[in-house]
Amino acid sequence: MRKFISFPKVEGDTSRQAHADLPAGTYERELGKEGFFGPATHMYHRHPPTGWTSWEGPLRPRAFDLVKLTAGDDRSPWSAPEILANAAMRLRYWNLSGGMPDLARNGDGDELLFIHAGQGDLYSDYGHMAIAAGDYVVLPRGTMWRIDCAAPMTILMIEATGSSYRLPDRGLVGAHAIFDPAMLDVPAIDDAFRAQQGDRQWKVRIKRRGVISTVTYPFNPLDAVGWTGDLAPMRLNVRDIRPLMSHRFHLPPSAHTTFLADRFVVCTFTPRPFETDPGAIKVPFFHNNDDYDEVIFYHAGDFFSRDNIHPGMMSFHPCGFTHGPHPKALQSMLTPKKPGTDEYAVMIDARDALDIAPAASAVEFTGYADSWKTSP
Ligand SMILES: [Fe+2]
Repeated sequence: MRKFISFPKVEGDTSRQAHADLPAGTYERELGKEGFFGPATHMYHRHPPTGWTSWEGPLRPRAFDLVKLTAGDDRSPWSAPEILANAAMRLRYWNLSGGMPDLARNGDGDELLFIHAGQGDLYSDYGHMAIAAGDYVVLPRGTMWRIDCAAPMTILMIEATGSSYRLPDRGLVGAHAIFDPAMLDVPAIDDAFRAQQGDRQWKVRIKRRGVISTVTYPFNPLDAVGWTGDLAPMRLNVRDIRPLMSHRFHLPPSAHTTFLADRFVVCTFTPRPFETDPGAIKVPFFHNNDDYDEVIFYHAGDFFSRDNIHPGMMSFHPCGFTHGPHPKALQSMLTPKKPGTDEYAVMIDARDALDIAPAASAVEFTGYADSWKTSP
């Protein structure tokens, strides 16, 4: 951890405990560095910091309705449209039906697949693994793989360009909290894997530096009879995540970190009860996460802090402004109408500015920045 200049000071009316017991009639905003781990100040405002009346210029909260993306040549992951990208990360949204006729191999970085919809079978160097909605699948860089769909699949692909996925340090809560590492499944050399082996011709579509090369074999190169080691694809379903929570303190999104790569993190929001302490806030606090661009992909459920959002949408909050709950969620900041959240969402926080690809611009919900307005 880097050393920061630290000089805790108090000015005016504040709470002594962040996210709880706010001065009467105020709205709390966290101004923070290093993605909720660095220096931070909590400021108590008379008005919601998202109470803007208009936006001009390119910086604004964005939302994309990826459900509207129509499939092109959807049988290769490398044809899936890019959504957002920077030098360390590349997001694609892939509609796959039937199955992949060829093997894929990513020479640019580890790939994280998040299965938004459908089910199928993943075949890789390491064997066979069934995959279904809600699964994360980490594919180490260089793995050869393909998917056969049992039902059409929609997959969010998150490439860790030039780096590797890791699990976060569990710190005070220990190695078995959130999900036990024993819950991570790996492929098996099973009957289904053996059945797909054989001597017909197979092509491998390799992506390196964004360009595809094709290698042809006179046999199926997924022909292992065994493997041993600590590098393999792994699967984790979001329903097997047991989220951290406190009944007295609204935890920051970083408590929900699932995977780390260089210069970005992947967090998972899963259903959890609301805080019960009368003074604790129950919705995400207003914040500017000043070192990160924030992306959320909405997978399933009712998104309690966001209006006008449905499964398959993606919000994008670039660094540089304050964001927080929509007005309806704000009304229930201290007294929610239901006992907990029922949402599943994948959050990606990127240290470097993300570029919006044309496919995303084409399905942008342009009224998103206006959705915080309390009156038209
Ligand atoms: Fe945020």
